[in-house]
Amino acid sequence: MRILGICGSPRKGGNTEVLLKEALRGAEEAGAKVEVLFLRDKSISPCLEIYGCKEDGRCVIEDDFQGVAEKMIGADALILASPIFFYTVSAHTKMLMDRCQSFWVKRYLLKMEIAPGRPRRKGAFISVGATRGKRLFAGVTLTVRYFFDALDVDLWDTLLVRGVDEKGEIFDHREEIQAAYELGRRLAREEG
Ligand SMILES: Cc1cc2nc3c(=O)[nH]c(=O)nc-3n(C[C@H](O)[C@H](O)[C@H](O)COP(=O)(O)O)c2cc1C
Repeated sequence: MRILGICGSPRKGGNTEVLLKEALRGAEEAGAKVEVLFLRDKSISPCLEIYGCKEDGRCVIEDDFQGVAEKMIGADALILASPIFFYTVSAHTKMLMDRCQSFWVKRYLLKMEIAPGRPRRKGAFISVGATRGKRLFAGVTLTVRYFFDALDVDLWDTLLVRGVDEKGEIFDHREEIQAAYELGRRLAREEG
């Protein structure tokens, strides 16, 4: 089982990063091979809506997206982690998502398989926001569900933490850190 973690926080050592690393630690201890990508270290253009992908489902903009896409498609399961920025994912995360329109085109317009013969995969979403509103994660959950779907991934589980703002504040939430570890373990043990 290869699990890819994708960190969309621009902040080094930030709250979502802490939770993501904990989830990956849990997955690794349960026997998975894990890898983490930091989108802040990647150079990924926004989608330019030129639809070069309508040829064969491959995005024609050449930048770090191609390498990230290859890893996303090669993994058996994904864990996406992004802080809440204006009730959705961070800009780093959204740029990656929009470039995955090429996979949506591949699946739904060109009717091609993303990875021929492979069953749908599982994906988890980890997020943190400063406020505590009931609907804080309402929009982002829908966004992530359909982003995952374009990659042939089902949104399998979420870990959504309210009331965390300053860097490191997540360490005051021991239960959520434990929940992240458990999420990684459960994902690694999932079959099919
Ligand atoms: C540009 C920006 C927009 C934000 N928008 C929201 C928001 O809409 N709702 C919220 O609860 N917190 C918002 N926050 C706070 C972050 O979600 C919070 O600080 C979080 O802990 C950051 O996680 P990180 O350390 O993983 O980057 C925003 C922060 C920034 C920098």
